[in-house]
Amino acid sequence: MRILLLTGNPKKDGLCKSIADAIIRGATDAGADVTQMSTEKISRCRVCGDGWGTCASGRSCAFGDDGFNDIQAQIGNADAFVIITPVYWGEVEESLKSFLDKIRRCENAFLPKPTPAKFLGKPVLLVASPGGSGDGALSCLTELERFCQHVGASVFDFIGVNRWNSDYKREAAYAAGKALGSGRDIGKTV
Ligand SMILES: Cc1cc2nc3c(=O)[nH]c(=O)nc-3n(C[C@H](O)[C@H](O)[C@H](O)COP(=O)(O)O)c2cc1C
Repeated sequence: MRILLLTGNPKKDGLCKSIADAIIRGATDAGADVTQMSTEKISRCRVCGDGWGTCASGRSCAFGDDGFNDIQAQIGNADAFVIITPVYWGEVEESLKSFLDKIRRCENAFLPKPTPAKFLGKPVLLVASPGGSGDGALSCLTELERFCQHVGASVFDFIGVNRWNSDYKREAAYAAGKALGSGRDIGKTV
């Protein structure tokens, strides 16, 4: 099982990082290979043409040399995903949002394309970490759920973690990573 963990967290420690580490530990203990990629350098979609560009015709971004192309290639190699973000303004962190905006154009599941969408039918564990007031986990996770719908991915689980539940949510994050890494089927009763 190859897992790609995508994050836009600019911090090298703290709540969000500790949850990502717990998920990676769980997935690794289950025997999965985890690759972590950061979206920090990804710039916003330039909205080519009259709204659609090469994303619609060929699943590629005309401005993908900001690191986008590398992450897109890794998505094709992955069996499962973790998307983890600090909550900013009740939403997904901006560089991760820019990445998700661009990748859903290229990898959406509904436009006819020459190749299948890379996320199609694959499980995605979604994590939102509101580290301040604790507000905004739900709106952020809703945004991420909509992304999964656009690319045809299956939500494996939702985790919202804040400063006063992080002890038991860290344990849940480890367990979720382990379940994802072991190849647990969505929809199968445990
Ligand atoms: C621009 C900005 C906006 C933020 N907005 C929220 C927010 O809406 N709700 C919240 O609980 N925390 C908010 N925070 C705090 C982050 O969510 C917090 O830093 C993040 O969860 C990561 O925690 P950590 O810094 O311990 O890793 C914000 C932080 C920044 C920098």
